[in-house]
Amino acid sequence: MDAHYDLDSVIRKVPNFPKQGVLYYDITGILAVPEAFSYCIDRMEQLCKHRTIDAIAAVEARGFIFAAPLAERLGIPMILVRKMGKLPNKVYTKSFELEYGCDVVCVQEVDIQKGSRVLFVDDLIATGGTLRAAASMFEEHGAKVEGFLGVIGLPFLNYDRALAPYPVEVLQVYH
Ligand code: PRP
Repeated sequence: MDAHYDLDSVIRKVPNFPKQGVLYYDITGILAVPEAFSYCIDRMEQLCKHRTIDAIAAVEARGFIFAAPLAERLGIPMILVRKMGKLPNKVYTKSFELEYGCDVVCVQEVDIQKGSRVLFVDDLIATGGTLRAAASMFEEHGAKVEGFLGVIGLPFLNYDRALAPYPVEVLQVYH
């Protein structure tokens, strides 16, 4: 693996987006620097190497960007978790609470294998609500949650609590 890369130096911080008072951590700065993007995938691969993972699942849209090259490197399937109305085959759905209102995630029934150990990947883990909903949906239909892996983690939003008892790893933490 390449030497350490300072991801913080390329993660763009955007104040008051998408609303007043929120500091948005923007991964487009990582994508703009191929060396930084490669470093992320290298580190994620490293973190997966000695684990038994049968598939990677990722939530749209930014989660896909990191999950796809990781799954390809590991030589395992990647499963798309999408918002309502985007997947063409029969789906399972799971709704979850947002700060205001609620949202729904979906996965194709055909993509969940009973007993399969699934690692959930996303660009950013904040409250953990999105990944928890995705993981519950898989568990309810017989898959096993192997853990969670993100590029950026905001632990002050308590994702560890939401995603317990499974391991959560992130490449760059902001407090
Ligand atoms: C962001 C991010 C995660 C989720 C994290 O997605 O990519 O999926 O929010 O938040 P949580 O841990 O509090 O659930 P967003 O809904 O902005 O969608 P996008 O990837 O399509 O931009």
